[in-house]
Amino acid sequence: MIPIIPKPSQIEKQDGSFRFTLQTVLDFSEREAPVASFFQSLLQEKVGFQLKKGKSGENALSFHLNETLSHLGKEGYRLRVLPEAIQIEASALAGLFYGIQTLRQLFPPEFEDGTLAWKSGWEVPAVTIEDKPQFPWRGLLLDCCRHFMSVDFVKRVIDLLAFYKLNRFHWHLTEDQGWRIEIKKYPKLTEIGAWRREPDGSVHGGFYTQEEIREVVVYAQERFVTVVPEIEMPGHSRAALAAYPELSCTGGPFEVPNQWSIYKDIYCAGNEETFRFLEDVLAEVLALFPSRYIHIGGDEAPKDRWKACPLCQKRIQTEGLKDEHELQSYFIKRMEKFLNAQGRQIIGWDEILEGGLAPGATVQSWRGEEGGVTAAKARHDVVMSPHQFVYFDHPVQFKSLKRVFDFRPVPAELSPEEGCHVLGSESCMWTEYVPQEKVDTMVFPRLLAFTEVVWAGDDRGDFSEFWQRTLVHYPRLEKLGVKRGPEAQPVAVQARFLPNEKRFEISLKATESGLEIFYTTDGSDTGKNTIRYEAPFFLEQTAVVKAQAFRDGSAYGAPTVQSVVLHKVLRKSVQVISPKKEVNCEGVSRLTDGLLGSLESNDGHWAPFQGEDFVGVLTFEEPTLVQKVRVRFLQNTSRRIFLPEKVTVFLREKGKDFVPVGEVGHSIPLLARGPLIQEFEISFAPKSASAIRLEAKVIGICPAKHPGEGEPAWLFADEIVVE
Ligand code: ACM
Ligand code: ZN
Repeated sequence: MIPIIPKPSQIEKQDGSFRFTLQTVLDFSEREAPVASFFQSLLQEKVGFQLKKGKSGENALSFHLNETLSHLGKEGYRLRVLPEAIQIEASALAGLFYGIQTLRQLFPPEFEDGTLAWKSGWEVPAVTIEDKPQFPWRGLLLDCCRHFMSVDFVKRVIDLLAFYKLNRFHWHLTEDQGWRIEIKKYPKLTEIGAWRREPDGSVHGGFYTQEEIREVVVYAQERFVTVVPEIEMPGHSRAALAAYPELSCTGGPFEVPNQWSIYKDIYCAGNEETFRFLEDVLAEVLALFPSRYIHIGGDEAPKDRWKACPLCQKRIQTEGLKDEHELQSYFIKRMEKFLNAQGRQIIGWDEILEGGLAPGATVQSWRGEEGGVTAAKARHDVVMSPHQFVYFDHPVQFKSLKRVFDFRPVPAELSPEEGCHVLGSESCMWTEYVPQEKVDTMVFPRLLAFTEVVWAGDDRGDFSEFWQRTLVHYPRLEKLGVKRGPEAQPVAVQARFLPNEKRFEISLKATESGLEIFYTTDGSDTGKNTIRYEAPFFLEQTAVVKAQAFRDGSAYGAPTVQSVVLHKVLRKSVQVISPKKEVNCEGVSRLTDGLLGSLESNDGHWAPFQGEDFVGVLTFEEPTLVQKVRVRFLQNTSRRIFLPEKVTVFLREKGKDFVPVGEVGHSIPLLARGPLIQEFEISFAPKSASAIRLEAKVIGICPAKHPGEGEPAWLFADEIVVE
């Protein structure tokens, strides 16, 4: 096996190998000089020497632009590693560059971190490869707004994209929570808009100077990566409005917000100043980014302010528009006209279809495939980024390596001709929950599956074969300094309480085929020397089940952990006194099912309540001695889930009223974003009780400075444990 990722179109292993040494010469002409120079810099960086220029023949590596290879396109190449020489040919420089990336994957992994013992040279297996990509648009979006990413980090991401033959870096530069690009004409965008105060009081922010941006663009160009900047409009613009509130419908004032959500304050579409501002901003953007495509965002723009704004309403009238969706369409079309006049084209998220698509717009379909299908049928180009497959901010539990690998960018309902409008795909790394140091764990290894999807396309083969190549890439990724995350969370733990036997029955299920499962029940690490799962097993006491999948003998994905708790009120029904409305019985049963919830609000273990304080009563058939009540709550402010302010426990002795026995609050800041779990524990002198009443005082509505201010807040409770 020759473990190249993405999988080449054609690959033939030959006998023998080439010995790469200090004496190997580099053969190229002036035309190939840019890629030769890239290769020399790579050698200098990785092994500390460069090759002498020489003539092809014995012991030479040659780069050759060859017009007869035009059937491979501009990005395709032919690589021949023969025992006596290495030849890379292509019809364009991009192809030669990708030939180098493939050659690099034939080097020992130690090449990548400078630990290669190169003095006596290294072997490169003989092979013939002919290769070209299936899609021209192969990208990654990096959100540098929710969390700021340094210039060095951005360059490193571009390096890794190029290494895996991706060619678009979608640089998400403006957001509600931060404006990251220096604009000389509007200095407050970065003086004010680039910084936010976090819920814990610290300041987060940063921005890229125009100098730094030019540096990144050139760095990317040298690696055949086009940087596509995204300047969001009309929504996701609160940072800009914090700096220039006069561009909003209400006039502000605003702070740069620190909550993850969709904000209602957006650019005013009735105010000419808004368009002057955006054209000025874009003029500076165009001077920095040579990309033909400029991303104008367009997603998630609530129309609340426009509906109430006299200027926006006047615009709707004078332009003869039907509603606020058509006003957004007017907005985008006007910006398109401006960009077209400068020789550029717009790309925007699929919401730009609403109210009428701008004539030359390319659509990036993210809410699913529908936007892409509609646009392609209307003969518009599309880039497919359905969140169901390629959103790397989603945990591997929902977007596994295999899930990404199974993605097909061309929706099945498109005709072949319509399918030609699918330029390719972009995976998206949104960073609400992902600071710079965590990006690797979310992007890798899923980016490897993604590059198979867009480069090899329908020729990618089966998952098992890809997995084998992936395993070989892990040491290489490690040498590249990539801190990869898991491939999947492939084991589901199902726990069923058997009331007569007073024990849990635990079943483990693999969500993918070809997996073996090993487990422990004390929360300790699993390995192949732990218990192999064959059939459901039983637990008589509180335990932490940890289950790990193995594929072909290697640990695959992250372990699944599920805590089960046996306690006095297990499976006892909780009578919910308040809130009265919309209490869902299945939800309530989760309060005493013995299974603890995780940080994922939708893991099926949390009981959701909305609005009023929570009041629940548990009644015993016999007086029961109790001394402690514990209850857990989740906070995730972007889902409008907040901790209660305090929890009070009351006990009732037979024939008497409830009396309070204890109360506990917490010290988590109100707007701490989470997700976080807080356990409230109330201990008291042992008492015999016939019933327990638990009250959780909720905040009820989302507080000031939350994007849902004044709207109902959720309370997510999990296990009520009584001891
Ligand atoms: C998006 O995820 N709002 C494009
Ligand atoms: Zn307005």
